[in-house]
Amino acid sequence: MRDTIQDAESPPSAATVPMRIAVASESAKSETRVAMSPETVGKVVALGYDVTVQSGAGAPAGFDDAAYAEAGAEVVDGPVWDADVVVMINAPGPEEIGKFRSGSALIAMLAPRFSEERTAALAAQGVTALSMDAVPRISRAQSMDVLSSMANIAGYRAVIEAAHAFGRFFTGQVTAAGKVPPAKVLVAGAGVAGLAAIAAANSLGAIVRATDPRAEVADQVKSLGGEYLAVEVEQEASTDGYAKATSEAYDKRAAEIYSEQAADVDIIVTTALIPGRPAPRLITAADVASMRPGSVLVDMAAAQGGNVEGSVAGEVVTTEHGVTIIGYTDLAARLPAQASQLYGTNVLNLLKLMTPGKDGRLTLDLDDTVVRGLTIAHGGEVLWPPPAVSVSAAPAAQPAAAPAPVKEEKERSPLAKALPPVIGAVALFLVTAFAPAELAGHLTVFVLAIVIGFYVIGNVHHALHTPLMSVTNAISGIIVVGAILQIGTGGSGLVLGLAAAATLLAFINIVGGFAVTRRMLSMFSRSPGRS
Ligand code: NAI
Repeated sequence: MRDTIQDAESPPSAATVPMRIAVASESAKSETRVAMSPETVGKVVALGYDVTVQSGAGAPAGFDDAAYAEAGAEVVDGPVWDADVVVMINAPGPEEIGKFRSGSALIAMLAPRFSEERTAALAAQGVTALSMDAVPRISRAQSMDVLSSMANIAGYRAVIEAAHAFGRFFTGQVTAAGKVPPAKVLVAGAGVAGLAAIAAANSLGAIVRATDPRAEVADQVKSLGGEYLAVEVEQEASTDGYAKATSEAYDKRAAEIYSEQAADVDIIVTTALIPGRPAPRLITAADVASMRPGSVLVDMAAAQGGNVEGSVAGEVVTTEHGVTIIGYTDLAARLPAQASQLYGTNVLNLLKLMTPGKDGRLTLDLDDTVVRGLTIAHGGEVLWPPPAVSVSAAPAAQPAAAPAPVKEEKERSPLAKALPPVIGAVALFLVTAFAPAELAGHLTVFVLAIVIGFYVIGNVHHALHTPLMSVTNAISGIIVVGAILQIGTGGSGLVLGLAAAATLLAFINIVGGFAVTRRMLSMFSRSPGRS
């Protein structure tokens, strides 16, 4: 029998045999993902492990046995439960758990919050159970967080499903056949899945709005092109990175917002979850009934009871007046190649953490917060729940900024105030008195142009300065006309030279001005039909 997983504090084993990691086929027929792609298998082999892949395990995700063999794995027919470490996506069933070897390890999404029985069975079998969905929410653990990887894929896919069921464009268009307004999308819950949904809907050209009890997500929503709809009610801050149940006052105000939005938007994607609790009910049957026929709801929380009244887990329901409610619970698995690649990378990162010697030997360091957080059973004991880890997705409170030092304006004397206009008036008088009459006329136009130009341009919003300046560069056209006239008069060589240089420079300015303007305007214009 091979050596079993070793505790970090136990003396290093004399044996140097690398452990065998097995990628098992998923028992559920509907599961399309596989725990490791051939690419990740290659990297696990590089960590010193022997890898076995159950024949056909990657087929639903589009990875064939030959690709795994090429990556350095041994492909075997039949079950692989006797390996040192078994890697899966979903938890094995009770019968399969019975086949595990005592002292071996299992890496999978074991949902310890939802199944105490399974955790107890794994402990009784002597399995070291590492639950990928129990990774603590600390920055260091992000690269192993399968909940984030899967939620990201699911959020994207939710919008694709909505677009598929929706009978219109997402983006606004002006076509020869008429103007098409952009679709309006509401995303309820701006966590990982919600943010992915916002980004996907925005990239398709829709107008996107989002809600979330955590006010700190407002900037993230904005940066992905969405509008954050704040529920102006105090909420208790999270201490473990997971959402807390909302207060009654919050729910009341939020319900009003959802009712207003349901009547206005075309698509609603709900992602609201509170770990270990049924999903909060956000959209009522009345809200659904107020939506226009053809509208679509995607309830990403359908598996936990649903955020939308009337959604059915795993099904698509169409209401009497033509609103579609999608309750798919396998959204991430609908992009199996992508999901398997990301899940495998998360597992690989965990293996890297637990293989400090890169020698193909898994080491269990229960003093490591990440390892402790996801170890739910070891040595015959249930280790769930782990000690609390205090983290918050909320930004740390900033100390109040010191008041800016007030600059004392020196009061100018009346004489100093009057001096510049007086000097200007005297200079103007002298110029008009002694200069030729023509010059006085030109000078008046020049001064007036400066004053009017100063006030017109000075009042333009700063954000518009560049397009404005690039357009006004077209004024250089006047210079070109003047310079061409000078060339036509056939003056001295100096005048001709200056005129030619002025024409060239002004020409560059005009062309550049229009090119810059065009680029700037195309940055601002997204959908011509947007209101
Ligand atoms: P989740 O899947 O547990 O919840 C989804 C979203 O639903 C959350 O944004 C939550 O605030 C929201 N929600 C809960 N009740 C709601 C209600 N009544 N109405 C509307 N929305 C409601 O959370 P998820 O998406 O897995 O992560 C949430 C946050 O945790 C992320 O945005 C991120 O800031 C943080 N996080 C940190 C990680 C790390 O540091 N390793 C890893 C993953 C997430």
